[in-house]
Amino acid sequence: MSQRQSGHHVKMEEVNVKMTRHVVLACGLVGMLSVGSAQAVTVSISCSALGIEYELCRSGAQAWSEKTGNDFKIVSTPNSASERLALYQQILAAGAGDIDVYQIDVVWPGTLASHFVDLSEYAGDAVNEHFEGITHNNTINGRLVAMPWFTDAGLLYYRKDLLEKYDAPVPSTWQEMAETAARIQKAERDAGNGRMWGYVFQGRSYEGLTCNALEWVASYDGGMIVEADGTVSINNPQAAAALSEVASWIGSITPAGVHNYAEEESRGVFQAGQAVFMRNWPYAWALSQDSDSPILDKVGVSALPSGPNGRPAATLGGQQLAVSRYSPHVDEAVDLVMFLTSYEEQKRRAIEGSFNPTIAALYQDDELLAANPFAADLYQVFINAVGRPSITGALYNRASTSFYNAVHDILRGRTPAERRLASLQVELNRMSRGGNW
Ligand code: GLC
Repeated sequence: MSQRQSGHHVKMEEVNVKMTRHVVLACGLVGMLSVGSAQAVTVSISCSALGIEYELCRSGAQAWSEKTGNDFKIVSTPNSASERLALYQQILAAGAGDIDVYQIDVVWPGTLASHFVDLSEYAGDAVNEHFEGITHNNTINGRLVAMPWFTDAGLLYYRKDLLEKYDAPVPSTWQEMAETAARIQKAERDAGNGRMWGYVFQGRSYEGLTCNALEWVASYDGGMIVEADGTVSINNPQAAAALSEVASWIGSITPAGVHNYAEEESRGVFQAGQAVFMRNWPYAWALSQDSDSPILDKVGVSALPSGPNGRPAATLGGQQLAVSRYSPHVDEAVDLVMFLTSYEEQKRRAIEGSFNPTIAALYQDDELLAANPFAADLYQVFINAVGRPSITGALYNRASTSFYNAVHDILRGRTPAERRLASLQVELNRMSRGGNW
């Protein structure tokens, strides 16, 4: 076994250890959160626990339980999208019926479709209320394998108060962002605020890094990693320039710890008031506006900066709800999915947690817009967000893993971007048998 292969092997073992811990945790929570009478059907739902996601999932399921008389269980899952997928694959491959409803990422329908029930006949007209692009994404071989729950796009969070104090505009290019970040970081540190940083993002070796890096690469006109026709395009000078630029920020405007940051680690730094700029998903907004948030009323949100030729790019993210084929309570599980993805529930989640609805009409709802002003201001960002390469189909996760590992190497300064992207291209071409995913 080569050194690289054995390094990979060690990583997988670490993931398995973590997964086992989560399974144990999940089982504990299942026991604790079961509610209602013993005779009722109990539907279990897996939820992410990023920020207040867990609490919103619980209160949503509770409302459904009160309405229908059924019980529910919440299964909490790892925060890292990559670890969550590995856990799901383990459970689903065993044909286990322990989880009835799965929260799944927008990039997983192609990988997990065979394990889920076709929801089209249950959903009826309700499905037409949702953004067509997302229902299309969730339809695999004519089967609607998941209902859209919320949609995500990468956003730039900035400290309004600091930009005002230093008379700096909201940056429109990455270069301007880096210059403003460096200037304010230095001035704040000179003034005694020694822990201030310029920019934080998600730099851990996981799915979130694929999302961040696609934004840098696409905004530099470096393509979409794999193009819609299957061609592997990542080995190009613009992509190398984008990634080299980001690598140069680490240790200067970005803490070295970013190599291990997922969403919550970067939000932790920003929300503690220790960063001028942050890249994150919409969920970070509601938390930044909590009554006990140190940055309450000091935050602005805008589209991410553009590359040198004036093109901004936000990666499309988001979560869906799917029903397991192995569920012993398919009808009740579908009913819970339809309840949680409905207009009223999406509205509640948007107001309380700034989770962006997938129902277009909600973007005209006054109460929602009052709570999340950026939902209207950045509507174009949400509807034009760039998808991760769906042509890769069931191989998506393998392709994304190769990509984020390569980007992580580049950001750590292990290999120059040009050389690492060339080897990534070879790897992806081999995986796809020459681009024929
Ligand atoms: C968010 C997005 C999801 C993405 C993940 C990466 O959960 O909704 O699409 O894959 O972040 O960390």
